[in-house]
Amino acid sequence: MNETILHDTIISTDDLCVYYGDKLAVKNINMEIQRNAVTAFIGPSGCGKSTFLRCINRMNDLIPGCRVTGKIEIDGLDINQKQIRMEGLRQMIGMVFQRPNPFFKSIFENIAYAPRFHGTKKKADLEVIVEQSLRKAALWDEVKDRLHESALALSGGQQQRLCIARAIAMEPSILLLDEPASALDPISTAKIEDLILELKEEYTIVIVTHNMHQAARISDETAFFLMGELIEKDITSNIFTAPGNKKTEEYISGRFG
Ligand SMILES: Nc1ncnc2c1ncn2[C@@H]1O[C@H](COP(=O)(O)OP(=O)(O)OP(=O)(O)O)[C@@H](O)[C@H]1O
Ligand SMILES: [Mg+2]
Repeated sequence: MNETILHDTIISTDDLCVYYGDKLAVKNINMEIQRNAVTAFIGPSGCGKSTFLRCINRMNDLIPGCRVTGKIEIDGLDINQKQIRMEGLRQMIGMVFQRPNPFFKSIFENIAYAPRFHGTKKKADLEVIVEQSLRKAALWDEVKDRLHESALALSGGQQQRLCIARAIAMEPSILLLDEPASALDPISTAKIEDLILELKEEYTIVIVTHNMHQAARISDETAFFLMGELIEKDITSNIFTAPGNKKTEEYISGRFG
């Protein structure tokens, strides 16, 4: 894990702020996120982790009254410019949420849906995408004999891996994971963690987690947020052994939050 190269920035923000109405929820964030690494966001409930994460794929646009100021660039491109093609942005960035949210469709259709919508029409091509995505999400062996059964018949942990497979079917370069394992049992959680470590070879991963052990196990860098502010971001081992800020130390040692 420590061999990951950490000097190739893919996402950078400059004084990024997010307001809900008049309330400033995320304050002047300046952050660089590294390519093909896992970056973990930690911090107490309500500190702005999900809000900041949603800036990366502009999901905050969908929330009435939410306003973003400052700059966020992906590979040097200012993604809040008016002329940005949202379709392209969403294709480049996959997202997985706390609760698995498969479509009310078959396992196959959950994954084939977006590629078909974006122009892949041939059945044989879709079959390849479905198999590859399920293999990458470490789910293929468990579902290959029931691809046309409902996705809702899968266990929670399997549904979450299906949601990851659905996200990677579009071949994104960035995966945003908002507490993807917090509703799962320890075995399913371990599978998701193994999967994240494999996927970072190909994708840049940003994960919100309340589980410090999880952040320590899987991330290369960790960012600690408190009341809308970024307190610090550093190599994960530094954050957990010698944090630069006293507030970080208090949080990770369980003294608040
Ligand atoms: N849709 C919304 N409308 C108004 N305020 C919101 C909205 N979503 C979040 N907030 C507020 O913004 C702040 C940051 O919330 P956010 O959900 O980003 O926190 P979080 O760190 O992800 O918390 P948690 O760990 O509980 O998921 C909170 O004060 C929250 O109440
Ligand atoms: Mg959240």
